[in-house]
Amino acid sequence: MTQGPTSQPETSDNAAPRRDNSADPRCDSSAPPRYIAHRGLSARAPENTLAAVQAAHDAGCEWVELDVQLLGDGTPVIWHDAGIKRCSDGRGKLFKLDAASAATLDVGSWFGDQYRGERMATLEAMLTLIQRLGMGLNLELKVSRGRNAIELVKAALPPTLEALPPERLIVSSFDRHALTAARALESDPERLRLGVLDDKAPKRWWQETERLSAYSLHLDWRKLKIKRAREIADESIKLFCYTANDPVTFEKLWDWGVDGVISDDPTRFVMHAAEQRSRA
Ligand code: G3P
Ligand code: MG
Repeated sequence: MTQGPTSQPETSDNAAPRRDNSADPRCDSSAPPRYIAHRGLSARAPENTLAAVQAAHDAGCEWVELDVQLLGDGTPVIWHDAGIKRCSDGRGKLFKLDAASAATLDVGSWFGDQYRGERMATLEAMLTLIQRLGMGLNLELKVSRGRNAIELVKAALPPTLEALPPERLIVSSFDRHALTAARALESDPERLRLGVLDDKAPKRWWQETERLSAYSLHLDWRKLKIKRAREIADESIKLFCYTANDPVTFEKLWDWGVDGVISDDPTRFVMHAAEQRSRA
């Protein structure tokens, strides 16, 4: 374990160190987002499109989660899969496309006729929209098998940092090379909030978050256990859970100290919370 102003004595594998959070530079006075629309409002519009982000905004969502990858010519685009078959009228691998060929795809009609003609969003176009809407962005650096994490970070991170203020941006990834490269590119944890994505918290999660000066952990809500959630909640690390769509089943996780939910339809959570308040 590295030693620094926030470091604690070595502990066993099973015990997270306690920190004095008041001295932790990762503490930020601005509140973490409670509701994040997964791939935009993907329950109601084609995922990872400009339309899905506009739909999220129109439905009252303040934050969206989006995946970014590179086309073969190095253009960063908002896309989840390694292939294009599921969410477009094309076939093949994303990295085989260049910007011109990607722009010919229909990425909306697979979801519904009203989205026919929707185009794959470049990161540039998406950042412009998010800026205009004044939304927050959880950008997931999506490193598909065989793709280069460092190239993705170099292409996607600088324009994103340029476009959005630190309090409206969280950059996350399952890929540790991508996270490491992102932290190397911007060393100040207050200028770049990094989120460590995993299905379950890594065994020594506090070492991982400390190494990256990370802001948050993003975990699969179905695999989260109360002990681990409380352990994280006791630290200065924010905890987000993906991808939950049933606010009733999720309810207990708020009591465990989870900060935010990444959902295909956050409006269900907002409505459920309002119902709970009106009953109280
Ligand atoms: O960032 C949370 C979630 O998006 C991670 O999984 O596969 O939906 O990108 P995935
Ligand atoms: Mg994602």
